[in-house]
Amino acid sequence: MEIKRIGISTGGGDAPGLNAVIRAIVLAGVQRGWECFGIRDGYNGLLTPEKYPKGGLISLNPDVVRGITHLGGTILGTTNRGNPLAFPVLGEDGQYHEVDRSDELLDAFAEHNLDALVAIGGDGSLSIAGALADKGLRVVGVPKTIDNDLDKTVATFGFNSAVYFATECIDRLHTTAASHHRIMVVEVMGRYAGWIALDAGVAGSADAILIPEIPYDINKVVEKIEEREARGRSFSIVVVAEGARPVGGDVTIQGKTIGQAERLGGIGQKVGAALEALTGKETRVVVLGHLLRGGKPTAYDRLLSLRFGAAAVRALAEGESGIMVALDPPTVNYVPLSQVSGRMKQVPLDCDTILTGRDLGTSFGD
Ligand code: F6P
Repeated sequence: MEIKRIGISTGGGDAPGLNAVIRAIVLAGVQRGWECFGIRDGYNGLLTPEKYPKGGLISLNPDVVRGITHLGGTILGTTNRGNPLAFPVLGEDGQYHEVDRSDELLDAFAEHNLDALVAIGGDGSLSIAGALADKGLRVVGVPKTIDNDLDKTVATFGFNSAVYFATECIDRLHTTAASHHRIMVVEVMGRYAGWIALDAGVAGSADAILIPEIPYDINKVVEKIEEREARGRSFSIVVVAEGARPVGGDVTIQGKTIGQAERLGGIGQKVGAALEALTGKETRVVVLGHLLRGGKPTAYDRLLSLRFGAAAVRALAEGESGIMVALDPPTVNYVPLSQVSGRMKQVPLDCDTILTGRDLGTSFGD
């Protein structure tokens, strides 16, 4: 079937580069004579249109997407509480319940004559995209996440921007840590993968880096700090991934709301308190949190986003469906969504960046 109208959705946490993907899809789609529509807030624009006085769809043309390549966030809005397969619906008991509304969503696609969908998102959004493709919708996924934890793509857009900013923050913390002879603990996002902590930590010359893939022994970090003290280095920088956990312990979570993934966070405080108690050194904790998601994409992420957006349109035009565009240097490939969803890409323990850190004398708490 010939494509005439496509929908674009951005789901889950935002990431720098989303707007660049949207712009590339619209410009490449319009060249093929397609009409492009953005779905507001994941799929909410179609599932709860009554909440949008101006309509749940945004008509996207080259004028609307002009000058947005470098802008952070997403002009479509996003949500991580809008999974159509487990949509939070307020029941008569006053509690939220998860309801499968995917069939209603497909009906809404048909009602709006949307022939295909480009779903831009992380693991959760791409699993949803896979389920919609299985139900017969023509779908191409675009891998997004600052966490870089998606399998089958060398990189996701947003990751480079997060690492760039985290590294800048670590640089800044060095000067104040050195002046005050303190330990600075920096907690960074990344969910259950340590990519951001590892790359920013090594690039920013952290003294210790704690990642989920290597459960840590706090005494090993203390050893590293004391070894530095003995060399006259009176400050230390410790980068902690939000998903880091001690040997035999669990991840630290802030909570879990119905229809949402569990919220990680708080490990930085725990590590900071333990280091202060064990070393007797004044310690401060900085949580970078959502600062890593905000702001402009780096040039690398802009280019990757534009490449992914254009590749998604080429894929649809070639008749592909149920696939994700993926970075496979020097090209962008297509991989089946079934090979991506539910498979987290963690840092391999033998990866060169960990080896590099070890060769530089960085402690990984093991
Ligand atoms: O997946 C991206 C991410 O920023 C994670 O690194 C983090 O754990 C999570 O999203 C935070 O989500 P929220 O915006 O719901 O707090």
